Amino acid sequence: MAPHVNVTDNFYQMHDPAPGTAVEPGHLDIERHYVTSTTNPDPLPKLFQPLKIRNTTIKNRLWLSPMCMYSAEDGYTTGFHYMHYGQYAARGVGLMMVEATAVNPESRITPNCLGLWEDGQIAGLKSIVDHAHTYGAMAGIQLASSGRKGSTIALQLYGTRPTFKAEPEEGGWPDKVYSASDIAHSSFYYKPRALTISQIHQVQQDFVDAALRADKAGFDVIEIHAAHGYLLHQFYSPLSNNRTDEYGGSFENRVRMVIEVVQKVRKALPADKLLFVRVSGTDWVEGGWTSDDNVKLAKLLRNEGVDLLDVSSAEAVKKNVPGLLVSSVGLFSRGKPANDVLEAGSADAIFGGREFLRNTSFALSAAFELGINVKWPNQYSWGKFKKRYTPLEL
Ligand SMILES: Cc1cc2nc3c(=O)[nH]c(=O)nc-3n(C[C@H](O)[C@H](O)[C@H](O)COP(=O)(O)O)c2cc1C
Repeated sequence: MAPHVNVTDNFYQMHDPAPGTAVEPGHLDIERHYVTSTTNPDPLPKLFQPLKIRNTTIKNRLWLSPMCMYSAEDGYTTGFHYMHYGQYAARGVGLMMVEATAVNPESRITPNCLGLWEDGQIAGLKSIVDHAHTYGAMAGIQLASSGRKGSTIALQLYGTRPTFKAEPEEGGWPDKVYSASDIAHSSFYYKPRALTISQIHQVQQDFVDAALRADKAGFDVIEIHAAHGYLLHQFYSPLSNNRTDEYGGSFENRVRMVIEVVQKVRKALPADKLLFVRVSGTDWVEGGWTSDDNVKLAKLLRNEGVDLLDVSSAEAVKKNVPGLLVSSVGLFSRGKPANDVLEAGSADAIFGGREFLRNTSFALSAAFELGINVKWPNQYSWGKFKKRYTPLEL
């Protein structure tokens, strides 16, 4: 029999240092020909400085933003997810956040969203996390409930019909769409029912159970999705909440839902597990959620043990809420602007969204643009950017 090379043991282990980590040129023979500079800038641009949170060190600060891929079957991962997340892990992101993952079946946005409401769903996610770790990438998962934006069709089907509504025969659940109140998002969506108090407590427990399953899958970060008009946002925004009980009315009542979810999840998780929350900084509508409200909420979340607030307009929170890490997101497609935000002290990390869909090597090309020599995945080292080859119009 031919000599056998165990790829898992012999190749993956060679990713030390991990892809996306700054290294001096020539540390591996294969890379001697592929140097981008003779030495790295000192200090390193912030985007490629590691970030330590609790006991976890994230190797750089350019991270994959959660993006729904509508490619799951009954909430279970498919081969698509293994391919999709694997490429980012291999190509140097510090942290990849797995897309919005539903805490119960009705919490999905579409019939094709990922879920973590039953134990069988752990294994597929665990294989994605284990794979990411072999490349030194940290893995997070965004736990979500869609609320009144549930039972809609996958992005891939947009344009095939007049509304976003998914019918029962295509896996939709029109009778089980729920929200803070019975106010429809628009005529494109189903009219939701208002959750009763005991249903509110059940949804909170679903977040806890999903977080515990995510912990079993090995995720380093749990992110609670409280943004973009989904259920937790529907509670804290005055535009979608007209309840008259303790979950509606005043600011304190409207934020009670997200605060209780965070309290319960934090309490259930091991003390060193990282907890992030994604919020919408403002509703951009008169009478809606404001930037000042968001700063007030950020302080409450910090006091409940949240490690990082994931918000597009990071600066106001960074300035006004000491002791809370903040990430920024939105329209970053080059290394320099992303690094400038960190150097200005306006955020601690950057999430990239659509640029990663265009350029899966965004972390590696951002390093090249900033003149930093970073480790490439061994399998791709022959393709490493070098001076005479400009991959993009930088
Ligand atoms: C296809 C797609 C799916 C998305 N799904 C999610 C999601 O699951 N959760 C979330 O919080 N944001 C989601 N977003 C928003 C992105 O995470 C990101 O915040 C947004 O695209 C802005 O960043 P960008 O300008 O770098 O793309 C999605 C965006 C896109 C393009």
